[in-house]
Amino acid sequence: MANTTDSAAAARQPLRIALAGLGTVGAGVIRLIAANGDLIARRAGRPLEITAVSARNRSRDRGVDLTAYAWEDDMTQLAAREDVDVVVELVGGSDGPALTLARNAIRHGKALITANKAMIAHHGLELAAEAEGKGVPMRFEAAVAGGIPVIKGLREGAAANRIERLYGILNGTCNFILSTMEDTGRDFADVLAEAQAKGYAEADPSFDIEGTDAAHKLSILSAIAFGTRIDFANVDTAGISRILAADIAQASSLGYVIRLIGMAEADAGENGAPGLFQRVQPHLVPVDHPLAHVDGATNAVVAEGNFSGRLLFQGAGAGDGPTASAVVADIIDIARGYDAGFEKDATFSITVADLEDMPTAPSGHRRGRCYIRFVVADRPGVLAEIAAAMRDAGVSIESLIQKGRPDDGEQVMVAMVTHEGPESAVTEALRLLEGSPSLIAAPLVMQILGK
Ligand code: HSE
Repeated sequence: MANTTDSAAAARQPLRIALAGLGTVGAGVIRLIAANGDLIARRAGRPLEITAVSARNRSRDRGVDLTAYAWEDDMTQLAAREDVDVVVELVGGSDGPALTLARNAIRHGKALITANKAMIAHHGLELAAEAEGKGVPMRFEAAVAGGIPVIKGLREGAAANRIERLYGILNGTCNFILSTMEDTGRDFADVLAEAQAKGYAEADPSFDIEGTDAAHKLSILSAIAFGTRIDFANVDTAGISRILAADIAQASSLGYVIRLIGMAEADAGENGAPGLFQRVQPHLVPVDHPLAHVDGATNAVVAEGNFSGRLLFQGAGAGDGPTASAVVADIIDIARGYDAGFEKDATFSITVADLEDMPTAPSGHRRGRCYIRFVVADRPGVLAEIAAAMRDAGVSIESLIQKGRPDDGEQVMVAMVTHEGPESAVTEALRLLEGSPSLIAAPLVMQILGK
């Protein structure tokens, strides 16, 4: 009886939170807890209480009142505070103070919540192994696809399934740029400037436009979906900076839109050995595919489970409200489970010790159709040269369009779509054309997303 009363009382104790990083998301977390605190306390079984905060700049006006919270100049010290149960890291950066704070939090036995995809992609295994060893939980829902509960969806809702394939739109900045180019016919650089002004882009925009941010997120999802160790280094990554307004127009005339797609599959490699295939690359997406309707800064993830069938998660991939929603959902998880403990917590759906170390599957044996765009000199024989390289490599051409560029009479754009075949054949055709004086720019290859 006494025990029941004690645990009921303990359950009502607030869960005490330290918040490191008070940018858009940090301020969003403060606002969310203030607005929905009563509802959250009922759902979590205890109130959430922010006790301490830290950020690089104390005096900046963030539009939230910080006077009720203790301030730490050195954010890495938040983890050592007696009045903290959970450390929420919203600082960003794969290393530096964010990583020091994360390690400190686990060493001090505090639960760790982070929105930091770069840190999880690079150091997630090390952090999770330490957290699992100490019996402290580590959660990172906000690191992937902002407000979409895709990690919970895979880790919990789809936990009974073998995931056959996972793919999606994982970077809102690129999706905003591509869908705006599509709607307006504007050029890449112009739309990138708008995305930056709207606050979608990472501090270093090359992380967005060169596909790194999407690759961070894909490598995290792969681990959860396939039970493999995070392997960010082997995500085959290409960005969107070489896509021309003309490619978008061409794709549209063929019945496609262009989207940056992250794709992962635990498939059989060439020799039948299992391998993990991970790629971030712009794709042509058929206009009747669900991902073709994902516009603006929205993200979407498709997971194909062997019993659930196709699951589609879609929503805001960034922004203060959606990302704060994911962070606080993790805090609620911790609040609910705090008394029961997190011994041997399966951080990536499987404990780190049991994740598989799967070799990288090469892309060459994969079959598919693709779009190849050349910018070539406008003189006799050039088209024949390209066609000969395709013939010699065994690539079958489904359609081919040549268009003069209005701004330059000396060069033309040749865009082709191939019949289904091995990717290695396309690679070979492009190798045959390498160094040809007919080619004014390196060819651009985009896979066509199947149904
Ligand atoms: N820069 C990221 C994006 C923000 O554009 O999706 C959320 O990770």
